[in-house]
Amino acid sequence: MNELSNLEFSLGSFRTIVSFSKDFPAIPRERSCLVVEDEHTAGLFPQPESRRVIVPAGEEGKSWNTIERILDHALNRGLDRGSLFVGIGGGVVCDVTAFAASIYMRGAKLHLIPTTLLAMVDASFGGKTAINFRGWKNMVGTFYPAERIWIYPNALRTLPERELRSGMAEVIKAAMLQDGELFRLLETIGEQREPLHGLSLNMYEQLIRRSLQVKAFYVTRDLREQELRTHLNLGHTFAHGLEAATHFKEYTHGEAVAWGLYRAMDVGVLMGLTDPSYAERVRTLLTRFGYEEQVSGVDPEGIFQAMQKDKKKQRTLRFVLQRALGDTLLTPLDPALVKEVIARGVA
Ligand SMILES: NC(=O)c1ccc[n+]([C@@H]2O[C@H](COP(=O)([O-])OP(=O)(O)OC[C@H]3O[C@@H](n4cnc5c(N)ncnc54)[C@H](O)[C@@H]3O)[C@@H](O)[C@H]2O)c1
Repeated sequence: MNELSNLEFSLGSFRTIVSFSKDFPAIPRERSCLVVEDEHTAGLFPQPESRRVIVPAGEEGKSWNTIERILDHALNRGLDRGSLFVGIGGGVVCDVTAFAASIYMRGAKLHLIPTTLLAMVDASFGGKTAINFRGWKNMVGTFYPAERIWIYPNALRTLPERELRSGMAEVIKAAMLQDGELFRLLETIGEQREPLHGLSLNMYEQLIRRSLQVKAFYVTRDLREQELRTHLNLGHTFAHGLEAATHFKEYTHGEAVAWGLYRAMDVGVLMGLTDPSYAERVRTLLTRFGYEEQVSGVDPEGIFQAMQKDKKKQRTLRFVLQRALGDTLLTPLDPALVKEVIARGVA
């Protein structure tokens, strides 16, 4: 196999190896292996029927029903704790495969082959697993890092432009958190205003490696999100509000995150906290990548109410803001200010 250099991380008592490969990773032929794909990735990366579980594509795939199907398949084939669960797909497949692996006989082996940019730079790495429950997004899950993540950038060749742009929002967020060089590289790409499909696979590999290094800084120090890891939620509290208010149907995760990054800059500048010239750089970058600064046809109050749902997980709702690139903080906000900023983001 044409393998490039690995990245290796310790996450609590777990160890994750991220391998980059120019060929599709060889999945062990052994009998005790189960492969999860969704309706789209099943056609793109065919696997022997006997060991494969195909789950619905999209958010509806993140359900108890899916987990039961994966567990039934494992049980019917007599798989044990030493068996390998492999997820091939985007964030949805990664989340459900990892959740099922984490609870099967108290933990089976787990490898992930992310096939969207978003899953390569974010969802596959860091150990968060989840399904949606009773209308609440990611409400049930575990922390269970994959032993191995295979990054096969060539998978991006079939990904629709909109999904590439979705993943790119997380790359931009990673740059804002920690990586000024990555931010400048993104500014250069943005200036060219070319379709993301036009970027070379070598460039994607660079963007993915750097984004993973940023995420690793947080998750290796705070796997269970006690405090530091929360910084990765930059833009996400606003994003979750927009996604939930539009029933997870109108916007991709990355589009919502980009909208949330605009809002994080707005709040910071209004509070006199964020350097206005940095906020302007972020806005310009987001606009060059084609993200909407304002959404239309959405009720601002609906977004605000939906954001309160994040309280359920956090107890008090705290927002991730920035003074400048690499200078991040966590703070509660006055609800009136939050409403004002949401209103600015709705046309
Ligand atoms: N666990 C985490 O830390 C974490 C982090 C971020 C996001 N997530 C979760 O990830 C999910 C979003 O992930 P996503 O954006 O990858 O969405 P997704 O998994 O729904 O994939 C997007 C679409 O692309 C298709 N697809 C996947 N690979 C393809 C390819 N190579 N070519 C063509 N089509 C392909 C999928 O079938 C799907 O239709 C959300 O549920 C979110 O909650 C989890």
